[in-house]
This record gives sequence, structure tokens and C-alpha cells, in this order.
Amino acid sequence: MKVQDRRQFIKAIGIGATLPKIHTEKRLSFDQNTPNNFEGRKKDNSESFWNLVQSQFVFAPQLKYFNNASLGGSPLTVQQATTTARNTLDGFPSKYMWGGWDEEKEKVRGKITDLFSVSAEEIALIHNTTEGMNLIARSFDLNPGDEVILADHEHTSGRICWEVFQERRGVKIVTPELPLLPECIEDIVEVYRRAISPRTKIISMCHIVNTNGMILPVKEISEMAHERGILVAVDGAQSAGMIDVDLKDLGCDFYTASAHKWLFAPKGIGILYAKQSNQHLLHPLIVCRGHRDHTIRRLENYNTRNLPELLGLGAAVDFHHQIGRKKIVQRGYTLKAYFRSKVVSHPAFLLKTPASDELSSAIQVVEVLGKEVRDAKTYLFEEGHIDCRPMSSFGLNALRLSFAVYITKEDVDELVHDLERCSRS
Ligand SMILES: Cc1ncc(COP(=O)(O)O)c(C=O)c1O
Repeated sequence: MKVQDRRQFIKAIGIGATLPKIHTEKRLSFDQNTPNNFEGRKKDNSESFWNLVQSQFVFAPQLKYFNNASLGGSPLTVQQATTTARNTLDGFPSKYMWGGWDEEKEKVRGKITDLFSVSAEEIALIHNTTEGMNLIARSFDLNPGDEVILADHEHTSGRICWEVFQERRGVKIVTPELPLLPECIEDIVEVYRRAISPRTKIISMCHIVNTNGMILPVKEISEMAHERGILVAVDGAQSAGMIDVDLKDLGCDFYTASAHKWLFAPKGIGILYAKQSNQHLLHPLIVCRGHRDHTIRRLENYNTRNLPELLGLGAAVDFHHQIGRKKIVQRGYTLKAYFRSKVVSHPAFLLKTPASDELSSAIQVVEVLGKEVRDAKTYLFEEGHIDCRPMSSFGLNALRLSFAVYITKEDVDELVHDLERCSRS
């Protein structure tokens, strides 16, 4: 890429950049292709269908966004719904903030409960996973010497809260090491089994780790934990919307997720699930009027709050269903397989995400051999307009690539082409 082009690209993606023509065309094509165009195409898995899905997302000009695990984009329907809600709120602020949208809020809750196969009385609509994990970790009055298990791949948002609220009062945090490339579920279950002691009270774990995209077997670990009277809290930041999450089947006690990643909701909206029988164990992080509510709503009560984003979440769940849950889940696996088939035997690359579908889906990490990962990331961004996340922890030295619904096979071809260029550079 010429220096001039590179400057233009970097300038164009900056704040306040004037949007070039292509952006407008995409908007127009979306207006013609209303979400109803998904209807009647439930069984259509052609690339032309996925191109239509892609057209609903408007990223900065030329940007190839393989960084959904960091933060998702919202499709136009979700942007529009959120903007409409913001305008409505600003038209009559006191009405909509204080009761005018109670029914709409409950409708969104209902949509979320369908998605995760739970009841409306088990879902609180919060801001993000960090908040959910904080709320869970802060709720427990554990005793000095009690133990909480947090594996080494936990995200800081699922670790720091336990350190601050529990470790400081003498609770022991046990940190078992997960294998980077387990061959089967049992390899992971065994790590947790060995970490359990008679003092273990809670296992707090990711559903999908953010480091190398490995899926952890929540169901098997919950069964094992419950046999021993141990509670299981799950950080679902990377699983909600990417893979099937049937919370009744998984059996965990608590689950929290950010809807602004794989559900493509507005930023700053998340969910917290608490099994009905264990809800009394949780306490609100913030207390204000409404804290005596006996329902789960007491956990989402912040007084003035981000209702337009909350309503935008409803549109995001609609979008999910318009494509079809199974189809989205399958698409993640399809893109994963497509990408892996191109790099798995390539001498320039080393995949560092477990291969089996039980153990990974739409997040894959790959090392460009002989390259420092930060240099590889910079090269891809400057030469290929690709955004992805460099992962250095656990000796990964690998690029984390997210294959969300707006990625097409053609994008994957271009990605691999640029990875090859990077390896030769
Ligand atoms: C596994 C995991 N947990 C928690 C978070 C924090 O998410 P949020 O900032 O939306 O709270 C992330 C963000 O990347 C994550 O990957």
C-alpha cells in the first residue's frame, strides 16, 4: 500500500472522517433490503445470503473487521431502533425514563429469556459482563480459608472482582492451569476436578476464553461442582450469540454476558442470569429506590439508566432470529473450518486454538511464524486494513481472529492472502 493511500485509510477511519460514497451505497442497499428480506431465506446458506447480512453492517470505509471478540458492530436495524428510542426519550424524558417504557422493557426481557431457554424471572438487564461478574463476586460472604476456583485464562473482568471483594478478606483464589490445546472436554474437566478441595465454594469460569477462543465445558463442570455443593458462575461475554447457550441445559447457577459482542446490540448493555433457586444469594451492586423488589429486577435498578440501549437490545435479538439462531451458530463453525483448512498445513502459520467443534467456534488464534505478534497486527492493519487483536499471554504470540456473521468467505480469502504477505514481509 502506498504511503498516501495508507494515510488516507487511517484518516478515513478517524473520528469525524467524511464517509466516502461506498458508505452511502451500503445504506441505500440496506433500505431496499429491509430485514424482511431474510424471510423466506431461512434455509439459504449461500454466500449471497451472507453478503446480504454483511450489507446490514456499515464499518468504516475499507475496514475489514475481524475483531468482534473485542466489540461487535450493530446492524442498521439495531442502530435505527436505538436512535428512534433516543429521540423518543429526548422528546419526553421524564415520561419514558420513569415508567413509560415498562412494557417495552419486559418485552426485551422476554426476548432474552427465549434466547437462553430460561424464565423472565431469571434475567436482569445490566450493562456488561464486567458488571455481572462484579455483582456475583461481591454478593458472597465467604469465610477466610474458603476457596474460589478461577482458571488462569479468566478475563480480568472475571478475576479482579474476586481478588478485590473476596481475596482481600482471606478467601483463597485457586488458579489451575488450563491446557492451551486440549484434545477433549475431559482434559479440561480434569483440571477443575483436581482444583476442587473440601473448602471450594464457587467455580467462576469463562464459557469461551478470550485468549485463544477455547470453549470450556460448563455443563460437565456444573454437574461435577453441584455433586459437591459448589456453585458455578459463568462469564459468557464471548458465548452469548456465538454458540448455542441453553442455560437450563448448561445447569450453571449464574451466567452473565455483554450483548454488544456477538449479539451486536448497542454498546453498554448486558445480561445477568441467576437460577431462581439461587437468586437470593445475589445483591445489587448499586442500591436505590426499588432495592426491596423481591424479583430479579432489583439487580438492574440504577435509577436513571441507558434505556435506549436496552430497547436496542430487543432489536438485536430480533435480528438474531431473523437470520436464525441455528444458522448463526453454524456459520461460525463454517467460517472456522474454512479458515482453518487454509492455514492448518501452511508452513508459515501455527493455529493455537483447539480444533474440535466442542472446543472452539468463531474465535481462532494463529501465529505467523517468525513474526512478533504486534508487528504482524500492525502490518495487517496498515497493509490490509484488517483489525484483529494481538494475543501475547500464555506465550501465544498469535493474532486473535473473530469470524462473525458479517464476515464472508471472500473476506477470509483476503485475510489469508494478507497473512501470507505478512509472513513474507
Ligand atoms: C471473556 C470476557 N469477559 C469479560 C469481558 C468484558 O466485557 P465488557 O467490557 O463488555 O464487560 C470480555 C471482553 O472482551 C471478555 O472477553
